[in-house]
This record gives sequence, structure tokens and C-alpha cells, in this order.
Amino acid sequence: MPLKQLTEHYQQRVDQALEQLIGNTSNVAEELHQAMHYSTFNGGKRIRPLLVYLTGMALNIPPEHQDAPACAVELIHCYSLVHDDMPAMDDDDLRRGKPTCHKQFSEATALLTGDALQTLAFEALTQNSYLEASQIVSMLKVLAQSSGAAGMAGGQAIDLSSTGKSLSLEQLKRMHEHKTGALIRASVQLGALCSQAPDSSDLNALDTYAKNIGLSFQIKDDILDIESDTLTLGKQQGADISLNKATYPALLGLDGAKKMALECHQNALNSLNHFDHNADPLRELSEYIITRNH
Ligand code: IPE
Ligand code: IPE
Ligand code: MG
Ligand code: MG
Ligand code: MG
Repeated sequence: MPLKQLTEHYQQRVDQALEQLIGNTSNVAEELHQAMHYSTFNGGKRIRPLLVYLTGMALNIPPEHQDAPACAVELIHCYSLVHDDMPAMDDDDLRRGKPTCHKQFSEATALLTGDALQTLAFEALTQNSYLEASQIVSMLKVLAQSSGAAGMAGGQAIDLSSTGKSLSLEQLKRMHEHKTGALIRASVQLGALCSQAPDSSDLNALDTYAKNIGLSFQIKDDILDIESDTLTLGKQQGADISLNKATYPALLGLDGAKKMALECHQNALNSLNHFDHNADPLRELSEYIITRNH
């Protein structure tokens, strides 16, 4: 199946599983339930669940074993965006063209929505009847570490504390490795941990893959920011550069940034060398990340 169709297939699959999980939260506080639903079904691309399922495909794991971790990582992502948009953080009114959670409901509800989505993520992992208790414990640990101070939350803290400062390439990488890289790596790790006896060389190879696509995703985002602004405004500089925000093209030049994205893609492919054709969708996804136009 081509990547585009696989993507749609798994989007539908995870949406169904998420509907069920969130549906079970409807009987206590109606507004909280509505806000949880609103913030989870807002047009997200479901990249992280896709990574869980495609990693499972590479390792011949049945998709029904992957539903719980696919939901869990997406729920953490959705919670992180609800809090990220709040006035104390980025103070954004719109997300994907719709009012942000605190605008649609209230700040207090947005705070609680993030809390409740986060805890639902962990609960989802415990509801996986296909896995051994020891596998579930490993997954809980991966999700907790990648979400917390050593992962996404830590990266958000670096982001907030570096506003208005110039960052070196190393500092920029470190911020993204935590802010967005950690959950991307967790998605691949959770997918692999669904395997009854995960092989440590497979786990390492997949982790190298995940680190590289996490980085190329971010570099490509920065490149697209510039290229879309250059197209629409006829300007040489993109929005982030004119705001003096550290970006890969600002630090490396546009060509340097493109070269780095290509190197990450090549590293990602190399890391999958000993996997067979079942890993082709992961290979295609890496290519898609650096060739996409939006
Ligand atoms: C965007 O992530 C926000 C960051 C974590 C940088 P995605 O591009 O995966 O967001 P959605 O879920 O598809 O909107
Ligand atoms: C969001 O990063 C990252 C997380 C929520 C972990 P940004 O603040 O850079 O992303 P957008 O622009 O709000 O999507
Ligand atoms: Mg932010
Ligand atoms: Mg933001
Ligand atoms: Mg952004």
C-alpha cells in the first residue's frame, strides 16, 4: 500500500480508538469532556501514531497491539499543544484555524483538559490486553520520560527561556531534541516495545531512525517557513528569521540547511539497512518529510 493510503488508513484507525477512550470520560464533567474531544479532534496529522503503526509493520506486529500506544502518544501531543497555546506560554488564539482550547472554553478548562489528556494517555497504555505486564511497564516508563522534564516538558522550558536570545547550532538541536524529538523517538520505541522479544539491535537501529527523522522534520519546517514567505511576500527572509528566532537556515544558510536535512534522511535510511521490505513505509516516510511542500 502506498504511504498516502497507509497514512489515511492509520489515521482512521487511531481516531476510532481515540473516540472510544475519550467517550469513556463523558460521565463526570460535561465541559471538560467536550474540551478533551475538541482538542483531540482538530485536524492533527497523527504523525506520531503513524510512527507507532509503521514501526509495528516493520517488526510484523499486528496493528491491534499498537492501538493503545498510538493513542497514548497522540494524547500527550494534544495535551502539550493545549498548554503550549495558553496565555502563560505562546498565547495563541488559533490552532489549525480554529479557536484554541482556552479561547473556545476557558483557561481553567484548558489547564484541566491538558491534565486529563495526559493522564488518559497513561491509562490507555494500561488497557492493552495484548501485552504482558512487563511490556506495559516498559512503555509507561518510555512515555513518562519522553513527556517530562527530561523530554517534551524540558524542551518547552528551554524554548521559553531562550526567547529573544541567539542560540548556537548545538543549543538549537538540544531544544528540538527535547521539545519535539523526544515524543517522536517515543513513538518508535513504543511501537517496537509491542514486540514480545524486542531485539536490542533492532531497537537501536529504530532509535537512530527516529532521531534523524525528528531532526529532518524540524529543519524542513524551518526551510518551508522561509520558502513560503519568499513566495508570498517576495522577501528574502522568513518570519522566524525576521523575528531573530534561531532556525537552521539562519545558522547554516538555506543550502546548508537543505544539505543537513538530506544527511538526516540518508542516516535514517542507513539505520534501516538490515530491515526487509516491511520497513519500506518507514523509509518512504523519511523521504516524505524532507520533500513535502507544506
Ligand atoms: C506541531 O506538531 C507542533 C509541534 C510539536 C512542533 P505537528 O505538526 O505534528 O502537529 P499536528 O498534530 O499535525 O497539528
Ligand atoms: C510546540 O512548539 C511544541 C510542543 C507543544 C511540545 P511550538 O510552540 O513551536 O509549535 P506551534 O507553532 O505552537 O505549533
Ligand atoms: Mg511553543
Ligand atoms: Mg506554540
Ligand atoms: Mg511552528
